[in-house]
Amino acid sequence: MKGLFKVSSVEETWEVARKFASGLKGAEIIALEGDLGAGKTTFTQGLAAALGAKSAVSSPTFCIVQEHPEAKLVHLDLYRLSGEDDVIAVGWEDFIDRGDTIVVEWPERAGSLIPDSAIRVCFRHGAGEEEREIEIK
Ligand SMILES: Nc1ncnc2c1ncn2[C@@H]1O[C@H](COP(=O)(O)OP(=O)(O)OP(=O)(O)O)[C@@H](O)[C@H]1O
Ligand SMILES: [Mg+2]
Repeated sequence: MKGLFKVSSVEETWEVARKFASGLKGAEIIALEGDLGAGKTTFTQGLAAALGAKSAVSSPTFCIVQEHPEAKLVHLDLYRLSGEDDVIAVGWEDFIDRGDTIVVEWPERAGSLIPDSAIRVCFRHGAGEEEREIEIK
């Protein structure tokens, strides 16, 4: 699923994520780009729920890697990491090898580990407090 989606609530962000999830085949790398508080983790909550994750998606501040084996999904928040070596150290190659879908906040930190084939989702704040633009490329 590609396109520009304008949402005005958390629930609408979850809904975009749910529709996006229904178009996935598995083993995709999904790079979530955007500022602090733009909605990357919120989107991941909707995505994980749609893929059948049993545990809640937690805020990135507290963990770098969150695995959802029943959903074949790994959620990475790389904000606190400083480069490709750090990303490899948290298990990047294992996640690729086992064919999980990998969703990555702050993908800039992973440098060239993010392939050109990754799906890029860009989040921007809109005018209102709960307004966001979600662009899926
Ligand atoms: N339409 C919306 N979509 C997503 N989040 C929204 C929306 N409206 C308000 N919010 C609020 O904005 C915040 C988004 O936080 P979230 O943790 O998803 O951002 P993030 O992009 O993951 O930030 P970080 O880079 O710090 O991890 C939450 O507090 C959420 O309740
Ligand atoms: Mg986040």
